[in-house]
Amino acid sequence: MSDHEQDLNAVISRILEERKAYPGALLPILHGIQDALGYVPREAIAQIALGLNLSRAEIHGVVSFYHYFRTSPPGRHTVYLCRAESCQSMGANQLVEHAKAKLGVDFHETTRDGAFTLEPIYCLGNCACSPAMMIDDEVYGRVTPERFEEVIRILKEAA
Ligand code: FES
Repeated sequence: MSDHEQDLNAVISRILEERKAYPGALLPILHGIQDALGYVPREAIAQIALGLNLSRAEIHGVVSFYHYFRTSPPGRHTVYLCRAESCQSMGANQLVEHAKAKLGVDFHETTRDGAFTLEPIYCLGNCACSPAMMIDDEVYGRVTPERFEEVIRILKEAA
């Protein structure tokens, strides 16, 4: 087993131990693993199944039901585009199409260079400045396609 796999297993075991007595423990465990690792690795499914006495299929079903959970590592930056009503009325759909074309990915996918993962989000609480997006922890308002490209370019240059 590689060092990387050992590290993953240690994180998964720790979270499993901490949370397996919670009521409805599966979701808190999955959230804990994704918060710690950025995704839910395949190895986690087997460990959780063992720890909670569930089948792998049951856990896989929950992971794939919630789009929030990823099963592969995210890009270095996660770009969230708001799809909720206020942003839609201010051009979010065009922004979404532009962002997908510019990055060459669909929602829940990561660019080939590993730089950006694209995700939808439903209201960032920034409706007064629609359309809104968030990249990592930073919220942007009144995002035009040009502004989107500028922010992406700056992040690429900073890499
Ligand atoms: S609807 Fe987009 S920030 Fe509220």
